[in-house]
Amino acid sequence: MERGKFITFEGPEGAGKSTQAAMLIAKLEAHGIEVIYTREPGGTKLGEAIRGILQYNAANEDPCPESEVLLFEASRAQLVRHVIDPALARGAWVLCDRFADSTTAYQGFGRGFPVDLMETINRFAIGSAVPDMTILLDVNVSLGMQRCAKRQVGQKIKYDRIESEALAFHEKVRQGYLELARRYPERFRKVDAMRLPEPIAEDIWKLVHDAFLAKK
Ligand code: TMP
Repeated sequence: MERGKFITFEGPEGAGKSTQAAMLIAKLEAHGIEVIYTREPGGTKLGEAIRGILQYNAANEDPCPESEVLLFEASRAQLVRHVIDPALARGAWVLCDRFADSTTAYQGFGRGFPVDLMETINRFAIGSAVPDMTILLDVNVSLGMQRCAKRQVGQKIKYDRIESEALAFHEKVRQGYLELARRYPERFRKVDAMRLPEPIAEDIWKLVHDAFLAKK
């Protein structure tokens, strides 16, 4: 059985990752491909519990920045062993909404922990689950934040803990992602996400089709 493909979606807040993942899944399924969609932090029972702690303060105590890194990594390690590795091994494709690059971008470039340390901890957490392609949805901070604000109209919780960081933090995250895309050009595909969903989805489909589905 050929191993499935592992595609991750990355980008700053309000980049449209979930919308684009849903559109790509529909196209892949129409091609008869089994797709598992998952998200970080979360995707397992342990991971969803960690998501509650990290985003909505479920433990009633803010994690210190070091704990924050390790909680993201714990969620990730569990997701890889329980969901991603088994799915890829049976030939399914996995689409993950955020993965290890989020820690490098947010906790490394954003919070200021050494980037190579974040990458080392990532490697420990993910083992052999290195994405075959990482789609970076690039959006500037003001548009991304506007989209988040729209999404949250009428919701009780306005911004989660990380979304409510200062704009300067989110700018560092965006620049961090762009730097990662330059560093790992064989894996990263940068897509301009400051457009309407359909043309973005068309670009993504072309990238995925050409890389994995076109007859070689
Ligand atoms: P999202 O699923 O709505 O994008 O929210 C996840 C939040 O957690 C988002 O603000 C980015 C942040 N995050 C990190 O800071 N580090 C990580 O490793 C991951 C996976 C997410």
